[in-house]
Amino acid sequence: MITVKNLHKEFKNADGTTSHVLDGINYEINKGEKIVIVGPSGSGKSTFLRCLNLLERPTSGQIIFDGEDITAPGVNINKVRERMGMVFQNFNLFNNLTIMQNIILAPVKLKVMSEAEARKKATELLERVNLLDKADVYPASLSGGQKQRIAIVRSLCMNPEMMLFDEPTSALDPEMVGEVLDVMKQLADDGMTMVVVTHEMGFAREVATKVLFVDEGKILEENTPDEFFDHPRSKRLQDFLSKVL
Ligand SMILES: Nc1ncnc2c1ncn2[C@@H]1O[C@H](COP(=O)(O)OP(=O)(O)OP(=O)(O)O)[C@@H](O)[C@H]1O
Ligand SMILES: [Mg+2]
Repeated sequence: MITVKNLHKEFKNADGTTSHVLDGINYEINKGEKIVIVGPSGSGKSTFLRCLNLLERPTSGQIIFDGEDITAPGVNINKVRERMGMVFQNFNLFNNLTIMQNIILAPVKLKVMSEAEARKKATELLERVNLLDKADVYPASLSGGQKQRIAIVRSLCMNPEMMLFDEPTSALDPEMVGEVLDVMKQLADDGMTMVVVTHEMGFAREVATKVLFVDEGKILEENTPDEFFDHPRSKRLQDFLSKVL
């Protein structure tokens, strides 16, 4: 579904120096896979996700999505983003809109569906995450876990072909982590292609088809969850796992 070829990302710093944040990433994600990415802070995990849906422009390299090079000049970035949902740590719901308005805003505005269709789809999705009773309230009255489930529903309402998650549970109180992971597991079971940056190693073990260890802008190790956690090959991954497990 996605092939990443020799992806590099550099940022120019204020003092004129350059940070080489992604340093030649090569990877292939097949339809239906659930890729979990772990790695130390600052290693480039978020930048990698943001390059996948072109929130960041890669400095060089290619991303082939469904046969199309989306890094080529002239590609409609908005169309690409419609096909790849993204969920962040901090929900980014609009506080002045109701839950229903938040969910149907993008699909209606971008003419992916009519308002009636969007409402129908939103209703189904809210039912699935047990939050239909919240359709007409404002985000401020929801818990963090509920807000994040709404953020996931909002992304799903666009009918994306794949979903990117950047530490979706990191900002939550511990007792709310489970309800969000449950929604993500359900999505995984439904066959969604997913790329997830997370510190939830239990989730990685249970759901991932592959786990990647990103360090200093490179994929240092890639394996099935069992091999990844039980037989880490590199010293760096062994050290990392000894700190987080
Ligand atoms: N817009 C930007 N401008 C300059 N530097 C940036 C920018 N975005 C990220 N960086 C730098 O790139 C590096 C990688 O950042 P990134 O956010 O991808 O790391 P991460 O692995 O997601 O870390 P964390 O686990 O803390 O979220 C960091 O050193 C960061 O400071
Ligand atoms: Mg990050």
